[in-house]
Amino acid sequence: MTHSIKFWAVVPAAGVGKRMNADRPKQYLELDGKTVIEHTLLRLLKADVFTAVAVAISKEDPYWPELDVSAHQQVITAAGGKERADSVLSALKSIRELASDNDWVLVHDAARPCITTTDIHHLITSLVNDDVGGILALSSHDTLKNVQGNGIVGTLDRRHIWRALTPQMFRYGLLKSALEAAEGNPAITDEASALELQGLQPKIVEGRPDNIKITRPEDLALAQFYMEHQND
Ligand code: C5P
Repeated sequence: MTHSIKFWAVVPAAGVGKRMNADRPKQYLELDGKTVIEHTLLRLLKADVFTAVAVAISKEDPYWPELDVSAHQQVITAAGGKERADSVLSALKSIRELASDNDWVLVHDAARPCITTTDIHHLITSLVNDDVGGILALSSHDTLKNVQGNGIVGTLDRRHIWRALTPQMFRYGLLKSALEAAEGNPAITDEASALELQGLQPKIVEGRPDNIKITRPEDLALAQFYMEHQND
């Protein structure tokens, strides 16, 4: 029997977002009439490619069950973990009975609500025949400095420097085993770094600059601005 390849989305949403200085985790702050995470999930669902979206939520999270999207038939809730990578691994385990090793998984931060269908489709069409997979990324327009203390000790060659965004797209089996092998390693701040530790070279696919991560209070106004000007 042949198995057709499926696409899954995994959304780590168990962070507290300390840099926002807000009364609740940043994914529950309001943006244009909805919470940040509702925008993110509705945009992933709108891309119309995912069999389901597995969302990692902290055990002590009182906000998630209140959202209509938590009961959506294509949304699966998993337990969050200590670090982002633990949350992603937990979400992957929550779909282990449903997913096959060759299926593709797109991991996307809950805190990136401006993701567009264009970027999701661009990532998928660029990588669907790739052996390893890869990530959306942006080149750096600024000159980048290597700093120790508050002194500059060098200038990086920015032609070789890219900013890692999400979604990050890898095969289910490869991603799960790479994250399991890297468990507890603090250097794993995204999925690609777990694959790199296995000696693999994930590809970069140039993404759109409006796919920002909500990190500081002023990012909400910027996300609102982008949303008003996006038409896809
Ligand atoms: O804090 P940062 O912006 O890097 O978090 C990126 C994403 O990872 C956020 O969507 C956050 O909710 C998620 N995260 C998680 N579990 C953690 C820490 C962060 O799901 N333990």
